[in-house]
Amino acid sequence: MSATSSSTRYGSVAIAIHWLTALMIVALFATGLLAAAQVDPAAKLVLLRAHIPFGAGVLLLTLLRIVWWLAIDRRPAPPADQPGWQKLVAKAVHIALYAVVLVTASSGIATIILSGALPAIIGSATLPNLETVLPRAVHGIASRLMLGLLALHIGAALYHQFIRRDRLLARMGVGVA
Ligand code: HEM
Repeated sequence: MSATSSSTRYGSVAIAIHWLTALMIVALFATGLLAAAQVDPAAKLVLLRAHIPFGAGVLLLTLLRIVWWLAIDRRPAPPADQPGWQKLVAKAVHIALYAVVLVTASSGIATIILSGALPAIIGSATLPNLETVLPRAVHGIASRLMLGLLALHIGAALYHQFIRRDRLLARMGVGVA
């Protein structure tokens, strides 16, 4: 498989970035929601120390993905005979996903810095209350928004695969075209 995409399927780099990001986002929701529900600061710290590397990884992969599409690769064409409104909605959801990932990751970083949690994360200080800074609220709202967009994104992929039966997932490396 070629590193770059063709007119009908994604290349190996785009496929690797897509599925690695998806796996890391699952890990981020698991560790983030558990951390937010945790009242014991020591246990919260353990979860946050797992959460942050995944968050940084998703941020870096998303920046790489933006550079990849802008400078190196071209997306495959939308499936043949897809109605124009569906193409528009798909494009809007994809752009919104990029935006919400960038806002979620940067508000997470801002939460750690502005709340003074960095010495606890990298050293042995006690974790302060994170709820006192505005980016913490932004992080919670943006992550919920991401869940809504992911539901639309995954719903659309399943609609293509099982209702339209146009084998869209094969373009992203799942199954045969
Ligand atoms: C796209 C990447 C990310 C996603 C999807 C994500 C997701 C989440 C979710 C779902 C929560 C729970 C929010 C709530 O229930 O209100 C959370 C909490 C949190 N995340 Fe992230 N996160 C991401 C990146 C980051 C990054 C890069 C950092 C820091 C460098 C970070 C730091 C935090 C902090 C400090 C909390 C609060 C935990 C608490 O209140 O106990 N996150 N995250």
